[in-house]
Amino acid sequence: KTIFLSEYKAPDYGISYTELHFELFDDHSLVHARLHFKRSDHASDTATLVLNGQELELQALALDGETLASDDYELSDDFLCVSGLPASGVLETTARIYPQSNTSLEGLYRSRGLFCTQCEAEGFRKITWFPDRPDVMSTYHVTVDADARQCPELLSNGNLVQSMELPGDRHRAVWDDPFPKPSYLFALVAGNLSRVEDTFITMNGRKVRLIILVEEKDLDKCAHAMDSLKRSMRWDEERFGREYDLDVFHIVAVDDFNMGAMENKSLNIFNTSCVLAAPDTTTDAGYQRIESIVAHEYFHNWSGNRVTCRDWFQLSLKEGFTVFRDAEFSADMGSRSLKRVEDAMVMRTLQFAEDAGPMSHPVRPASFIEISNFYTLTVYEKGAEVVRMLHTLLGEEDFRRGSDLYFDRHDGQAVTCDDFVSAMEDASGKNLSDFKRWYSQAGTPELTIRDDWDAEQGVYTLSVSQETPATPGQSDKEALVIPLAMGLLGEAGNLRLTLDGEAPDPESADNTHRILIVDKPEQEFRFSGLPECPTPSLLRGFSAPVRVDYPYTREQLLALVSRDDDEFVRWDSLQQLMVSALQELQAEPHRVSLDPLLEEAVNAICSQSLDPAVQADMLRLPSETYLAELASHSGKADVHGIFRARQALRQALAETFRERWQQLFDSYRVTAPYAAIGEQIGARALANVALDYLATGDEQGVSLAAQYYFSADNLTNRLVALRTVLREGDAALGDSLIDDFYARFKDETLAMNHWLSVQAENTSGDSIARVRALMEHPAYDSRNPNKIRALIGAFANANAVHFHKHDGAGYRLLGEVVETLNEQNPQIASRLLTPLTRWNNYAQGATLMRAELERLSELPSLSPDVYEVLSKSLA
Ligand code: ARG
Ligand code: ZN
Repeated sequence: KTIFLSEYKAPDYGISYTELHFELFDDHSLVHARLHFKRSDHASDTATLVLNGQELELQALALDGETLASDDYELSDDFLCVSGLPASGVLETTARIYPQSNTSLEGLYRSRGLFCTQCEAEGFRKITWFPDRPDVMSTYHVTVDADARQCPELLSNGNLVQSMELPGDRHRAVWDDPFPKPSYLFALVAGNLSRVEDTFITMNGRKVRLIILVEEKDLDKCAHAMDSLKRSMRWDEERFGREYDLDVFHIVAVDDFNMGAMENKSLNIFNTSCVLAAPDTTTDAGYQRIESIVAHEYFHNWSGNRVTCRDWFQLSLKEGFTVFRDAEFSADMGSRSLKRVEDAMVMRTLQFAEDAGPMSHPVRPASFIEISNFYTLTVYEKGAEVVRMLHTLLGEEDFRRGSDLYFDRHDGQAVTCDDFVSAMEDASGKNLSDFKRWYSQAGTPELTIRDDWDAEQGVYTLSVSQETPATPGQSDKEALVIPLAMGLLGEAGNLRLTLDGEAPDPESADNTHRILIVDKPEQEFRFSGLPECPTPSLLRGFSAPVRVDYPYTREQLLALVSRDDDEFVRWDSLQQLMVSALQELQAEPHRVSLDPLLEEAVNAICSQSLDPAVQADMLRLPSETYLAELASHSGKADVHGIFRARQALRQALAETFRERWQQLFDSYRVTAPYAAIGEQIGARALANVALDYLATGDEQGVSLAAQYYFSADNLTNRLVALRTVLREGDAALGDSLIDDFYARFKDETLAMNHWLSVQAENTSGDSIARVRALMEHPAYDSRNPNKIRALIGAFANANAVHFHKHDGAGYRLLGEVVETLNEQNPQIASRLLTPLTRWNNYAQGATLMRAELERLSELPSLSPDVYEVLSKSLA
């Protein structure tokens, strides 16, 4: 059933206060609820109270203490509807549920014995009957009873107000959360956990207890998350003026979790992979990811919890804004341009593909079948880019004023993306009504930019036109408001700019940077008084989530790589040089010589002193996924051709720059003991890129990589070495390292996830047979989302040549896994399907990919999650 934003209706009843009493047992649990309901002013006095409820067994139902007669209510698979109610009262229900057999990891379930919850978006209805929609906000009072030995820890949101022993070796904890919240922020945890504790003093001197709860064996892996949490709390005070509002903040780590983490009020629940950090089990990227996710969930306390969403179409209100906030945090903690390059890479590689695929949707979708399918790169990352553009258009000061106004005006409310933009408008005095099209229009805009140089007048003109391609259900697109950051590069560096129609600003006399506001289908921008014909430096800092088409010559790209003062543009220009080299190699596979301009560009990057982490990103080849996205934008992708072209270019770069790679490796190789700090992470990244080239087609390089593997004191180096050996070395050496890794880390489940991924992504040999064998391996667990992503997800997303094998065996493998997951865990099943939905991007695989989707669509009892993806992909 499709739900439409246009059909939103405010609820007829609110629940002002919610009392829950959980009795947790091994084979079932009882949930007693007392809902203090109140009819809304707009509702008629015959209005029905509609409660969601799924997979619940009704044990008792009473109104104001009186058992309800069966003709006063209607119970179905999805709802409990009660009519003939007074304007206010207390509805009491008892539900019997079965957490131990809940494999969907939604609602109340057990992970390695631990009771835990995941309610966003619509999981609370699997716990008790409730108006499970974010515009019903209530304060909660929660009593949890469980076995004292199995579950020494009993946690819920807010403050602990009572704990006591109960007969029969059971005990009780009572929690009270004073902040009204929607049901999706409810959380409960009960089990045997160990804790790491710290404190934080807020800007107004409030002392907050910070508690991270994990299995005892993982106690030594919590320090990084705790540090990240304290940094996040301080940063949110300094940058956004947001202070924490309770006396305690919990983070609980669970192994079986569908997503990364969840911002439940004062009781964040995390996937272990997003909290636990240790040098042997976590990569550098993993450390950074943990820091940003801890921050993200913490930041939700204001952007999400204190001010929440009116309905799920507004998901980006909290997610886009919070991703923007966590990205700014990461930029402030590390390198701003590095963070920008990495986010741009994700947007261009993955979000642009989503925008161009069958599930394409705007940042604020207009309809959906299953909301779980809309926790997407578009809602999160593109949503964050939309907030970033607002920040660019308003400037930091007005943006901050707008953010303060938004929090102040809507504290305790469930609101919409329009309310967010209105606060920005009111604080800045700017009219943002045209800008708001970014929220409702799907697809990636394309800017076509051409230029003209009038040498006599010294006038340079940029003609900019914009177009957004049609997407499913949206054929006509309007012009968007696009901040196009730019500069003009001359022989000796970036030129001072005088833009026609712009008042001369004495302050910015030598300003070389402008933000052009592109807001019409076609526009011209004239720059005068220029001494020479410039090269345009476009979309600086990735100022908007758009594609840019400008006919750069290779000489111009080389100039930008070597001398532009925007690191994003330098990175992007080198990528463009590599992309065009790869495209040539694909067209002419036997071409041998490296383009001299590309050679010069690589030389320039190797010899300049740049942030080594950025340098590493610059020197890495564009990914297969990015190349496939680009190819399918203008035609069809040939994954086998892309693979071969990358191999050839890697080989050419490896040979041409062998001495350079050796120098870089020797000078950046980290010899100090491992620490996940910026300088080391950057140096390692660069040394490891160099190592990868050194080992390419070179026996000595391969043995260097093998040595590097054995001498590594951290997972980052070990994995780089392992991947390189698997790609370049002989099979026996590769196997021996795989075995060695297993022997060392078989008891570390997070390290084992990497072990599974490395093998799934290994393109040598028969990957499909290898993946099938690993599915039977003790290191795999077909119910654990991390394992499924590590093995099956990695195979389908990062081993294109085998996933797209001509006989369709890769598609079938994925299809089979989706088929079992459809019943077990629909959210994971539908996410796993993504690579198959892109069938239209491929010339060769399209028919077989579609055939697999069709086979799945004929299965009986498809979950709404999988049904929605299949039906949209086949439409
Ligand atoms: N709100 C969480 C976060 O981004 C994600 C929850 C996702 N839940 C889901 N069912 N898709 O921090
Ligand atoms: Zn979030």
